[in-house]
Amino acid sequence: MKVNGKPTRTIWPERLPEGGRAGSVGIIDQTKLPHRFETVSLASLEDAAHAIAEMLVRGAPLIGATAAYGVALALNEDAGDARLAAAYDQLFATRPTAVNLRWALDEMLAVLKPLPEAEREAAAWRRAAEICDEDVEICRQIGVNGLALIEEIAATKAPGAPVNILTHCNAGWLATVDWGTATSPIYHAHEAGIPVHVFVDETRPRNQGAALTAWELNNHGVPHHVVVDNAGGHLMQHGMVDMVIVGTDRTTAEGDVCNKIGTYLKALAAHDNNVPFYVALPSPTIDFTLASGFDIPIEERRGEEVSLVHGKTPTGEITTVQVTPDGSPVANYAFDVTPARLVTGLITEKGIAAANRAAIAALFPERVRAA
Ligand code: MRU
Repeated sequence: MKVNGKPTRTIWPERLPEGGRAGSVGIIDQTKLPHRFETVSLASLEDAAHAIAEMLVRGAPLIGATAAYGVALALNEDAGDARLAAAYDQLFATRPTAVNLRWALDEMLAVLKPLPEAEREAAAWRRAAEICDEDVEICRQIGVNGLALIEEIAATKAPGAPVNILTHCNAGWLATVDWGTATSPIYHAHEAGIPVHVFVDETRPRNQGAALTAWELNNHGVPHHVVVDNAGGHLMQHGMVDMVIVGTDRTTAEGDVCNKIGTYLKALAAHDNNVPFYVALPSPTIDFTLASGFDIPIEERRGEEVSLVHGKTPTGEITTVQVTPDGSPVANYAFDVTPARLVTGLITEKGIAAANRAAIAALFPERVRAA
């Protein structure tokens, strides 16, 4: 997507390795948005692991893409089996919930392990770049498939009336390499001239909705309002939401959806108000080894993410304030599970599937066989 009129991805090879010198990878530092657009160079395995763990990059597909480049960066001085295994373990430990991380690391291992050491580094840079390109195409296709759903709803509305879509967290282009998952159908509809309006859940504690999704939509001129996390139920009761589209960090073979904390409550409200609840996801986010969503590891993060809030003061200073009393303990669960029965459909790159084992397997038979 464009930033200041310039086509931009969330991750890009900055410098390829040459003559023993390490390569480097550029990323957008998402902890600085929405108030500052800053890019950062990753020049080592440690840089990549830090960027994922501290959420300079985040969102399931982008975590996977960054891990792939992390492996490439790790092989600069030593491309032996032990180094490869250590890089895998270090990157795998950065964040537990998004399964794209494991998927990307396994992809890298499958390509690199059979190769002679001398060929591994170049092959790693090539495969990491391919993973990024594949993600862009997958997300574009999710947009095309999701567009059909938005068109169907638009056809039921008064001419010119917008399709109102509620989304949670940031499953936008910042969470992927480009396009986003939940936002891709929205961008496609906007480009096709279908009026859309997005309710953006702020998504405490880190405010990925208020900070990132709103920044994206603002940049692209997509009409939207940021709402507090608890507003969704009220909006749905009053017929103000035509559909919900969210992303996911891991969806099981039976269609249980793990996503940012608070997603489940939106699904409950949607169910109670007959609002369609869609989940947009690339196939690397499906964990074909798991049946129940309750077997997905749920990340628990630092309490400071809840007790401290970052923002801009009226004088333009970026600052941090504490919103809890001194001494109050905080629990910070980062994800929850929406059972398949609450999901209207899964928007994938291969089409829209019901959230059940048979429908998912019918779209991805090769992934089922490999699991
Ligand atoms: O903690 P985050 O910001 O990495 O969480 C991101 C989400 O929950 C997204 O909805 C999910 O990763 C899908 S991204 C296309």
